[in-house]
Amino acid sequence: MSASAALYPFGVERTPAAQRAPTRGLYLGLVVTLIAVLAYAAYITLQFAGVRKLQSEMVDRNRRDSLQLLRIQNDFNSLGLAMRDMLDAGEPYPLAAWSAQFERIHNDLDAALEQEEKLSEAARTSDQRRYLSQSLAQFWDAADRMFALATSGNENAAREQIRDTLQPRLAALGSAVSRLLIQNNEGEELATARIAEIYDHVQRQLYFFLAAILLAIIATSLYLIRANRRIFAHVAELSAQRSELAQKLISAQESTLRHISRELHDEFGQVLTAIGSMLRRAGKQIPEESPLHADLREVQETAQATLENIRSLSQALHPVLLEEAGLESALDWYIPTVERQNGIALHYEKSGAPFPVETNAGVQVYRILQEALNNVSRHSGAKEAWIRLRFESDALELNVEDHGKGFQPVNGQTGIGLVAMRERAELLGASLSVSSLGGTEQAATGTRVHLRVPREKAEAHGE
Ligand SMILES: Nc1ncnc2c1ncn2[C@@H]1O[C@H](COP(=O)(O)OP(=O)(O)OP(=O)(O)O)[C@@H](O)[C@H]1O
Ligand SMILES: [Mg+2]
Repeated sequence: MSASAALYPFGVERTPAAQRAPTRGLYLGLVVTLIAVLAYAAYITLQFAGVRKLQSEMVDRNRRDSLQLLRIQNDFNSLGLAMRDMLDAGEPYPLAAWSAQFERIHNDLDAALEQEEKLSEAARTSDQRRYLSQSLAQFWDAADRMFALATSGNENAAREQIRDTLQPRLAALGSAVSRLLIQNNEGEELATARIAEIYDHVQRQLYFFLAAILLAIIATSLYLIRANRRIFAHVAELSAQRSELAQKLISAQESTLRHISRELHDEFGQVLTAIGSMLRRAGKQIPEESPLHADLREVQETAQATLENIRSLSQALHPVLLEEAGLESALDWYIPTVERQNGIALHYEKSGAPFPVETNAGVQVYRILQEALNNVSRHSGAKEAWIRLRFESDALELNVEDHGKGFQPVNGQTGIGLVAMRERAELLGASLSVSSLGGTEQAATGTRVHLRVPREKAEAHGE
């Protein structure tokens, strides 16, 4: 009795918990990772759009605004120079002659101011704007008054006006514009700082994002590993259950065959033996020349033939010889029978010092040989096979070899003969190998079945 059969008694087999494929978890991991990547891509795009906006709207605008401010300052300088010349006593022209130049500068200033106002709309306060336009308006009023004085021939009063009003006003305007220029510069620095800040922020977010992605990947991998481990455990359990089922089937088959074989041998055998002896006795009471005597003799012979058939069928189903005389005798009887029935030449060799083989172990060895010989005659195409039974000091070995077409042991072969052979070997605690011969030997191909049963599993104790 094998230990593994005892481990799994009938009725306590567990149905393993329904296994879920890890696909859902893996999809989830993939979706989380993808969402994280997309979200980060969107975030980065937004941040960079912000940087671009800052750059084009603030920095570029600031720069163009500063250009207009410089143009205004340039106009102020021209005005300043003109007024200095007007005050110069050595100047040959009358003051009114400057009015055209003033007019031109006035127009240019208006144009520059108009553009500047558009560019600085957001940056400048309304107070600053009002101050600039009011101061300018006052300056032009004063200039108009000065030219009016000059045209009316009051040149000295006009010069006084320049000195006392126009020049200080122009100086104030100049410093206001300088302040605006400084302000623009500061704005630019601020924007640069802000851009640097955005880059810093993006960089920090990048670390967060990488950590999140890494976490998602680690979580998914851990989940995958766990799911794999569960699936492998499940497969191992299924395999153990399958093996257990096969071994139970083998035991059940063996006990059924043994039962039928005994019934055939004992019941039918005895009935037929009794019929035979009754017929013999009846025959003695009838004269030999009577036709009935011949008929009785024929029936007696038929009964005898049937009895022999039943005996051999009984042996074939379950060799009683195994139990009564041991494995060696059973093989001595079985091998010539197969030779006769299947028409293959079997070369049987025994070697080593025989030891008695336990009945259950003998049955398994016998069945393995039976299946191996069946396969030789059904699949190999060979007409010869070699059987070697070796009693070694520590094991019993059985070797069955044919030089037929051979086969590559591929998974998914049809039939359960090889599977049953393996299960029987496992029940025995033996090792079994089925290999294809081939290559350099003189027999190019063929199949070899090799069974090795450790002596302590094979040997009968206390018999
Ligand atoms: N001695 C052999 N020579 C050539 N091929 C073999 C030999 N033994 C087995 N095979 C190949 O291995 C396959 C599996 O053998 P197995 O005994 O498991 O199944 P089977 O004999 O086809 O069916 P079953 O034994 O269940 O009646 C066979 O179909 C055959 O192709
Ligand atoms: Mg087979």
